[in-house]
Formats: sequence, structure tokens, C-alpha cells
Amino acid sequence: MGASFPVPLTTRLTQRLQIAHPILLAPMGFAAGGRLAAAVTNAGALGIIGGGYGDAEWLDTQFREAGNAAVGCGFITWSMAQKPAVLDRALAHKPRAIMLSFGDPRPFASRIKEAGALLICQIQTRADAEIAIDAAADIIVAQGAEAGGHGEKRATLTLVPEVADMLAARAPETLLCAAGGIADGRGLAAALMLGADGVVVGTRLWASNEALIHDNLKQAALSASGDDTVRQTVTDIVRGFDWPERFNIRVMRNAYVDRWLGQEPQLRSVADIEKLRYVRASDEGDATTVAPIVGEGIGLIRSIEPAQAIIGRMVLQAEVALRRGARAVLIEED
Ligand SMILES: Cc1cc2nc3c(=O)[nH]c(=O)nc-3n(C[C@H](O)[C@H](O)[C@H](O)COP(=O)(O)O)c2cc1C
Repeated sequence: MGASFPVPLTTRLTQRLQIAHPILLAPMGFAAGGRLAAAVTNAGALGIIGGGYGDAEWLDTQFREAGNAAVGCGFITWSMAQKPAVLDRALAHKPRAIMLSFGDPRPFASRIKEAGALLICQIQTRADAEIAIDAAADIIVAQGAEAGGHGEKRATLTLVPEVADMLAARAPETLLCAAGGIADGRGLAAALMLGADGVVVGTRLWASNEALIHDNLKQAALSASGDDTVRQTVTDIVRGFDWPERFNIRVMRNAYVDRWLGQEPQLRSVADIEKLRYVRASDEGDATTVAPIVGEGIGLIRSIEPAQAIIGRMVLQAEVALRRGARAVLIEED
């Protein structure tokens, strides 16, 4: 695009974290490794390793891959709670932040803060936001249902301003980030307009050179529209993840998901065999079986690029959108 003026998007998030851009990498389990996290940090945002369900060896490797870049680490809280030693393992790497999603963060909050890391809590409802305030979260991430990966029902467009109002009244020092469907500069600008201090980006950075995803899956997802994604549980059943009922996971539909959607009880009864098939398909990068974990924002993504290019363009587009309206971003791109 034509605009190249380096106008910084300064927000409370950039000031508090001393980063150039108000963007956090989503801690995408299995996808956001040390290389992607470091690339995001080196691009002026904050990289967060996707610690996912909490595999200590994998985490050590990814922190090593991140080298000297200041990165954070995220966990799926209900899973980490079953093996809390993995939190200490992550804290030993002196992460910039720990992001907890999908479960009660309160039992872990003081350990995280005493270790000098920021506590980031990702929430899906107003009730979760109350709990995150109780946990004295430094940053609350309001995640809408457009998001790739696990989540719930609320839409980003209404959840973010509702939580912004709540924080303004009850915890004005707590920062707010928006997550779910933010895949270009228009989304970033919109999130700031809704009262967020920054954004968490998953799907757009999943489609990056550095993401730990088989190339076949990345390429398959490039042709998808947001219409092709669905919130479902087939992929959790077949992978053997026992998620609390309130959450499901948005993926790109493929032949395998279509085969089992609505037939979940039958899938459960053959899950042992199907799991082996799914693991093999995953190693082979078979995108007709393994569903790419992406959100509705996939419909805005046209190419796989280095994380630095993605972030640079997103910030420039947001600056244009905020100065001249989002339509100007489209015109600049033509
Ligand atoms: C491939 C993938 C894996 C994810 N894994 C996790 C995870 O392990 N823990 C977590 O807190 N969030 C996870 N998420 C959700 C993100 O934290 C975030 O809410 C979401 O990516 C934001 O929406 P977007 O994908 O539209 O950018 C994942 C998202 C994706 C796309």
C-alpha cells in the first residue's frame, strides 16, 4: 500500500509494556512456538509462546528457540491446573507475561506476579471478567466467538466495549485487549475504537512463515472464507482433549469435520482408532482430515508471510483507517 509514514499507534498498552505496536501474539497451542514469538517481539509487538496443555519439554525447547527476545507464555488454565509444576517451569525462563485462558486464574495469580511476569487473563464472558479482576490481572483479553481455536458465544463487537465500560468503572488501571476476528488494520483500528488498549492476533499470525503448522494446512486455509469455519467439538473428541462443556473450538471445515459433525456420540465410541488416524494425518499434513484451527478472519488472509511483514502492514493500515476511515485502507490496497 502507498502509505509509509511511521506514525506510532501509542496506547496505554504500548506505554506500559514498552513495545512499539499494540499487538500481542495469541498463545496458539502447538502453533506459536519460540520462533514465531521471537519474530513478533522483534517486530515491535509482544510474542507469546503457546504453552497449550502444558508440555514441559516442549516449552523448554520453545523458550530456547526464542533466544534473547522477551516473550511471554500462555496456558490453557484447566489443563495446566492438573500439572501446575509446568507453570514454575515456564516462570524459570523469566517470561515477560503469562496468559491464562479457559479456567480460574486466581490460584496462580500470585506466583506469576511474584516472579515478575505480567498476568494476562483471556475471558469470554462478563462473569469471567469479574474473576480476572479478582485475580488482579494486568491485562484482560476479551475474546469474541469469531476467534480461531477455543472460545464461546459472545461477539467481539459487543463484548469488548462492555468489558471496557466495566473496567473503567471498577479497575481503571487494568488494560484491555480485544481478540477474535482481528486480521488486518481495520480490525486493529476498530478494536481501539471499541475501547481496547490493544489486540491479540491469532489466525493472521497462524498464517505466517514462522508458525509451527504444516505447509499443506496453511495453503488449504488460504482459500477459505469465514463462512467455511465452524465452532464444533469433533476435533477435540478425536484428539482426546476433555474440554469443559462451555467451550468449543472454531476450525476450518473439511471432509473429516463434515463427516462427524452431528455424530459426536458415534465418534466418541471409535475415538481410540480415529485418534491414531488423526495423528498420522497430522504428521502428513493431510488437510482433508486435519482441520486447520483458524477463525473467521481467515477470509481476510491472502498470503503466508513473515510475521514482521504482517504486523508492519496491520499497523500501517490501522493508522490510515484511524486518520481517514477504513474504506481508505481498501483503496490504498488496490
Ligand atoms: C491455532 C490456534 C490455537 C489456539 N490455541 C490457544 C491456546 O492454546 N490457548 C489460548 O489461550 N488460546 C488459543 N487460541 C485462541 C487465541 O488465544 C485467540 O483468542 C484467538 O486466536 C483470537 O482470534 P483470531 O484467531 O481471530 O485472531 C488459539 C487460536 C488459534 C487460531
